[in-house]
Formats: sequence, structure tokens, C-alpha cells
Amino acid sequence: MNILVSGGTGFIGSHTCVELINAGHDVIVFDNLSNSKENTLDKIETITGKRPKFYLADMRNEDDLEKIFSENSIDAVIHFAGLKAVGESVAMPLEYYKNNICGTLNLLEVMKKHDVKNFIFSSSATVYGKPEFIPITEKCPLGETTNPYGETKKMQERILTDFQKANPDWHIVLLRYFNPIGCHESGIIGEEPNGIPNNLMPYIMQVAAGKLPMLRVTGNDYDTPDGTGVRDYIHVVDLAKGHVAVLKKLADESGVYIYNLGTGKGYSVLDIVHAFEKVNGITIPYQFAERRPGDIAVSYSDPSKAKEELGWVAEYDLDRMCLDAFRFAKNTLTAN
Ligand code: NAD
Ligand code: UD1
Repeated sequence: MNILVSGGTGFIGSHTCVELINAGHDVIVFDNLSNSKENTLDKIETITGKRPKFYLADMRNEDDLEKIFSENSIDAVIHFAGLKAVGESVAMPLEYYKNNICGTLNLLEVMKKHDVKNFIFSSSATVYGKPEFIPITEKCPLGETTNPYGETKKMQERILTDFQKANPDWHIVLLRYFNPIGCHESGIIGEEPNGIPNNLMPYIMQVAAGKLPMLRVTGNDYDTPDGTGVRDYIHVVDLAKGHVAVLKKLADESGVYIYNLGTGKGYSVLDIVHAFEKVNGITIPYQFAERRPGDIAVSYSDPSKAKEELGWVAEYDLDRMCLDAFRFAKNTLTAN
């Protein structure tokens, strides 16, 4: 199939391009490079032997999108493009709403005009807020979000659901990612956030590479086995493969399909630190600090719906996630 990947030079997008190419799909990428680099395309080519066709395009600009759709015959769109930093979204709400919401609206309008009816959306476990039950199934009610970023995910899910109701021949898939970490085994593509990282694994990677002195473990008084927050960390390559599995089902009946993409296992912050130390033979200095505002104690998925309906399960374990993350950190962070 011809797959248009929005945000395809980003962290999850680039890994998905690799898996799409490996599965025999033709990949077209667009990105405005606001949070990624064009040389990611070289890296995808190094890994797969194939270079995706690339458009430097901003989804806020309909003309940019129109050019892509008029020049290509597209079977499905995987929509990764978006701003994703929680703290930044609190400081810059208008930018987040404009980018994530208006961008998605533009994309849908141009797709509709060109009769492209298959849409796969990068949603997040953040839509469950403080979940009503654990493990979280797709039946768990949506919760209160605590920041504009999370709200854009909820709003986009709603927009897509309303849109599909009005256009019942569309096939829309909402993928709720848990916590993607790790990187491709080549160690050449991975997560490179700008500035000081917000999320746990990118922070640990910078400590491991000697760029930051120590990890602050934000909260050790949660109602969890060791008091630190518990999450469902998933290897980004497994996550990428989830998108390939979804494409195999696009011929099925149209509708809105929702899947959790997680491993079903919860690990605490200290579990992650200790696994990272053990597999990589290094020490990660840390100290306990205040809880981070808006954080919840525990979030992990029940991924059985994706297994039953897509035939997809996450295969990589935590040790592998930590090994691959450190390989990328050594290749990139220590080189700069
Ligand atoms: P990323 O920032 O690495 O990738 C997003 C890409 O979108 C970037 O390359 C950026 O340049 C591009 N982009 C942003 N605004 C754009 C615009 N207006 N036009 C064109 N391109 C634009 O992020 P990621 O971690 O790869 O996340 C991909 C998607 O998955 C995002 O929608 C994110 O919200 C969602 N998600 C991520 C996580 C996570 O932990 N990484 C978890 C849940 C959901
Ligand atoms: C974060 C986002 C969430 C997003 C998700 C995607 C926040 C508040 N939430 O969630 O919207 O969908 O990423 O992956 O940012 N931690 C530390 N020290 C750190 C960083 C994190 O101890 O320097 C702890 C956190 O308190 C948490 C755990 O590590 O218990 C995981 O944090 P993080 O990687 O930011 O992911 P989420 O909190 O799940």
C-alpha cells in the first residue's frame, strides 16, 4: 500500500517508516521538522535500503497538504504529526491547540477531497486521565486531562469519531499508546527531545551519557510497591509494528476502532533505573523529589483487544528496551 506518514521523521514515525518498508509498503513522509531532522531519512534508508519520499510540509497549511495528495495516490494516512511536550503545552496552549487540532482538521479535509478514507491516529493513554480501573481496557471511561497536550488528544479522538459518524465509509483507528521507549537495534534512530527531557527514559539516557548529573525521581510516596510511579513501557519497535498490523485490517468493515498499544506490564521508576543499570553495567545516580503535578500513580494496559483483533503483541522486554535506549544514547548524545 501507499502510506502517507505525517510526522514521519519524528521518534515513533521514523520507527514506523522502517517497519512499513520492511513489510513491503511504499512510504511517503511529510514533516515540518519542528521537532526532528531531515537526516532521519538517510538513517531510514541506511536501515531499510529504501528512502521514503519526503515533503517538507506543515499541516497547518492546506496548500502543503494539497500538493502531497495531488501528486500521490495514497491508500492510508498514519497521523503522527503533532506537538507533544506536556509542560510546553501548559505554557503555550494556543500553539498546541492550533497545531494539533487545526492541523488534523486540515488533513481530514484534504483527505476527504481526495477520497482517501483510511486514517490511523496516534492517541495516548493520557486520554484515560486517572483511570477508573487497572489494567486499563479500551472500555475504561475517558478521564480528566491535566494539560492542553492531553486535551488535544481527547479532542482529536472526538473529532475523528464525529467525523466517521458523518462519513460511515471511513475506517478510522485510534491507537492509544502507553509509554514508548527504546529505539531501533541499529542505534541510529531514536528519541532526541529538545532541551532538558521531560520524560523518564530520555532523562535517564542523558544521565547515562554524562549530560545530566542525576535523575530526579518525581514522587516516592505513591500507593505502589516501591512508592514510585508505575507505567506500561513499550519498545518503540513493537509499537511501530502495531501500525503495520492495523494496516492488514483496513479491508474490514469501516468504522472507528480503538486499541491500547502496551505490554500489559507495569514497572516503577526504580524498576526502570535498576534494569537500565543492570543490562548496561552502569550506575544512574538519582534522588527522590516532589511529585510532578498532574501525575498519576499507576497506568498500565490490558492489551488483549489488540491481540485478539489485530494479532499483535509486544515482544521486547524491559531489558531489551534499556539496552537499545543506551546504545542510541552512546551513539548520539556522547558524540555531540
Ligand atoms: P515527535 O515529536 O518525535 O514526532 C512528531 C513529529 O511531528 C515531529 O517530527 C514534528 O516535527 C512533526 N510536526 C509537529 N507539528 C507539525 C506540523 N504542524 N506539520 C508537520 N509536522 C509536524 O513525537 P513522537 O514521540 O514520535 O510522537 C508521535 C505522535 O505520537 C504524536 O502525535 C504524539 O502526541 C503521540 N504520542 C507520543 C507518545 C510518546 O511518548 N512519544 C505517547 C503517546 C502518543
Ligand atoms: C507522560 C505525559 C503524558 C504522555 C506520556 C507519553 C506528563 C505529566 N505526562 O506521561 O501526557 O502521554 O508521557 O509517554 O508528562 N519521572 C521521574 N523523573 C523524571 C521524569 C519522569 O521520576 O525526570 C517519573 C514520572 O513521575 C512517572 C514516570 O517517571 O512516574 C514516567 O514518566 P514519563 O516518562 O514522563 O511518562 P508519563 O508520566 O506516563
